[in-house]
Amino acid sequence: MADKRKPWAEPYKIKVVEPVKMTTREYRIEKIKEAGYNTFLLRSEDVYIDLLTDSGTNAMSDYQWAGMMLGDEAYAGSKNFYYLESNVQKFYGYKYLVPTHQGRGAEHLLSQSLIKDGDFIPGNMYFTTTRLHQELAGGTFVDVIIDEAHIPDNLHPFKGNVDIQKFEDLIKKVGADKIPYISVAGTVNMAGGQPVSMQNIKEVKQMADKYGIKVVLDATRAIENAFFIKEREPGYADKSIEEILFEFCSYTDAATMSGKKDLLVNIGGFVAVNDWELFEELRNLVVVYEGLHTYGGLAGRDMEAMARGMEEAVQYDHIRSRIKQIEYFGNQLIENNIPIVKPIGGHAVFLDARAFYDHIPQINFPAQKLAADLYIESGVRAMERGIVSAGRNRETGDHNYPKLELVRLTFPRRVYMQSHLDVTAYSVNELYEKRHQAKGLKMVYEPKYLRFFQARFEELS
Ligand code: F0G
Repeated sequence: MADKRKPWAEPYKIKVVEPVKMTTREYRIEKIKEAGYNTFLLRSEDVYIDLLTDSGTNAMSDYQWAGMMLGDEAYAGSKNFYYLESNVQKFYGYKYLVPTHQGRGAEHLLSQSLIKDGDFIPGNMYFTTTRLHQELAGGTFVDVIIDEAHIPDNLHPFKGNVDIQKFEDLIKKVGADKIPYISVAGTVNMAGGQPVSMQNIKEVKQMADKYGIKVVLDATRAIENAFFIKEREPGYADKSIEEILFEFCSYTDAATMSGKKDLLVNIGGFVAVNDWELFEELRNLVVVYEGLHTYGGLAGRDMEAMARGMEEAVQYDHIRSRIKQIEYFGNQLIENNIPIVKPIGGHAVFLDARAFYDHIPQINFPAQKLAADLYIESGVRAMERGIVSAGRNRETGDHNYPKLELVRLTFPRRVYMQSHLDVTAYSVNELYEKRHQAKGLKMVYEPKYLRFFQARFEELS
């Protein structure tokens, strides 16, 4: 283990810079009101440090940019596709590849291919787009994550694990023929970027095999997951990230991928499978919704950048600095006794808004308000991951009331320095000191799907 007192620096240097705008508090108050207290509705130019998401916000390397010039922009059979395909086979191990414009494109194709009306899809906590595509295909999502995942300060090292008993109980209750697959994400975004252990995915596979159920991996942050396995799981300290990733995927039958995260690009995704018949179905559907099966909504250059990003993403120095940067930030908050989800996750630090604004009831959207207040305080943009993101119950029409009411500070890869993190930690602390002044919100506009993106709010008087 490295000596904790020894300083470290990001393993890259700056070649191009993008200036950011400094704004006043008055200006930001006006802008967040205009945005209906929804950070998704702010203009990016009004943001100082943008921690909205790690999705598509990565800085590409010179190696990736050089690859962009090698884009083979043919309609069919682009050489960049074949390179991407061979890298997916090499690093993830799946046989067949269908590129898509991003993760939800892959989720759409997979859900439409595998789910029948009335099916159930168990998963280790939901992700917003994943669940919606399952529902639109006629399925019902069932949460089978371990209970620890719902408790913000529970220190379980693999809080993303599937509860095997919950999985089997569901099979016994609804019947295996109603469960086309189990959806496993590593790491688990909504749980706080928490990993799944190798032992757990093996057990999931055994149980699934016993009942003839497929295992589908959401591989969006599987490289970050592999880093946690290396750090925390006995027997993996001396294995490379590449080896761990490959082994992990070997216990799954297919994967959907948003390349906008782990793979260090600004756009791109894919679905990859081992089963020829499923591949045939996906390859057929992709031409309807995304584009021909050798580009799936991407330019040749995008596929090249994603293939090259994959090679960089599995490098130990890269992934270590990625995760440690977030840990560095999270530890500053912990030192100031600010309530966050623990252990610190892979792509983000999650403020526990329930504890932060413990005087604001969940129905008045404490996390939504906290994200807005952080913007006003500092120009830092974060996002709500609580009752707004959880949407409504399809049957009753009432809000879903998730146990976790969080604000996510998400770190783009290779974009910010430790000094940006210091500024952000300072601002969160300032806000915490005056937390009792905050009032809740009421929702004044609610879209039908994925409401968190476009909902609008007003401050309670
Ligand atoms: N799966 C996970 C675990 C994700 O985090 C995301 C996106 C997707 C699938 C969908 O991929 O955006 O490329 O269509 N997460 C982003 C976020 C939006 O901010 O966490 P996409």
